[in-house]
Amino acid sequence: MSDILDLLCDDHRSLQEMLALLIRDAGAPTAELLFGRLHRLIRMHARFEESSLYPLLAQTAATTGMARQAGEHHRQMDVLLDALRTWNADGATRLAKLSVLQEDLTRHIQVEECSLLPLISTAVSSTRLQQLGDAYRAASALRPALTMTPRALPTPAVLRQPTRCR
Ligand SMILES: [Fe+2]
Ligand SMILES: [Fe+2]
Repeated sequence: MSDILDLLCDDHRSLQEMLALLIRDAGAPTAELLFGRLHRLIRMHARFEESSLYPLLAQTAATTGMARQAGEHHRQMDVLLDALRTWNADGATRLAKLSVLQEDLTRHIQVEECSLLPLISTAVSSTRLQQLGDAYRAASALRPALTMTPRALPTPAVLRQPTRCR
């Protein structure tokens, strides 16, 4: 059974794929629906990390600072996601916001996978990581929506170079 670190890394890949698909098809009739799904999933993922994962880093001033910084990344993305909720604004502005969101998300995932998750992996027992994975699965009522296969989606550069460092 996957532990919390595996589940979060799997979600990262799915969120990146969904966002790349959304950017490609931003003008399609289904785009607003896909955006609503992506919005909910990013929020759910981030809130779980803030409530159950980042507190595990509160052992030293250095790691507490890293966790706080990651929380600030989430808040920056929340601002962009909220701005995008008015989906009918002009298409060029929407695409610019989606591109900034993609950059922010990619950078944040790199920080988590190359710094935060490896720290947690060494500081927390495998039993606890499994329990957190169970809690995440239980909290993810929307999780099935993450398992989607984009239609003929060209692999963006960000996905050809996986950020996974664990
Ligand atoms: Fe994450
Ligand atoms: Fe995060």
